[in-house]
Amino acid sequence: MMLQIPELLDPDQLKAVRQIIDVAEWIDGNATSGVQAAMAKNNRQLPEGSDAARRAGDIIQTALGRNPAFMSAALPLKVFPPLFNRYGTGQYFKTHVDNAVRHLRGTDFRIRSDLSATVFLNDPAEYDGGELSIEDTYGIHRVKLPAGSMVLYPASSLHHVSAITRGERLGSFFWIQSMVREDANRSLLFQLDASIQELALDKGQDHPAIVRLTGIYHNLIRQYADL
Ligand code: NI
Repeated sequence: MMLQIPELLDPDQLKAVRQIIDVAEWIDGNATSGVQAAMAKNNRQLPEGSDAARRAGDIIQTALGRNPAFMSAALPLKVFPPLFNRYGTGQYFKTHVDNAVRHLRGTDFRIRSDLSATVFLNDPAEYDGGELSIEDTYGIHRVKLPAGSMVLYPASSLHHVSAITRGERLGSFFWIQSMVREDANRSLLFQLDASIQELALDKGQDHPAIVRLTGIYHNLIRQYADL
């Protein structure tokens, strides 16, 4: 399941992130790549674990924790500290699949990447090209979102970032290990939760059928969740 989350960051949060990263020192993006990705990637990145990445990443993590759509769709167990990249004119990231397991350098923190996320951090009018293209069984989806918005997609998907032909593209990217490993199960739970919320608006949380459906939702999580 692919999901766009509009305005993950509000204007103040976006501004705070930009103030941190705009003055930070950037390095060659291949610092985090596997061997195959290193050949495919051409961009710049904030050093992993740098003070700027940590501060800006904390703002994003706080926003994620308060976002009901993210929580419902991802059912997150662990979120990798957000990383930041920028693509100048002529830069790109060719088709690849993200590494299955990510270690946080210098720590014993590691996650299985079930979901990949990109938060767009500048206005799409500031650059041409730079679409994130994600392949699934329905075809290729090209994503280019307003600053502050996010796309969430299965980390198992082939994806690429098209070359920038004008301007510069700024983004944050990271991975999530979900309590529910299977994308199909996560997707069903997300749809069930959304349907319950919609019905509850109409009938009230206390309606007996909604109480039962909510119970079913939690009992399915009980079946599927690995902690
Ligand atoms: Ni990737």
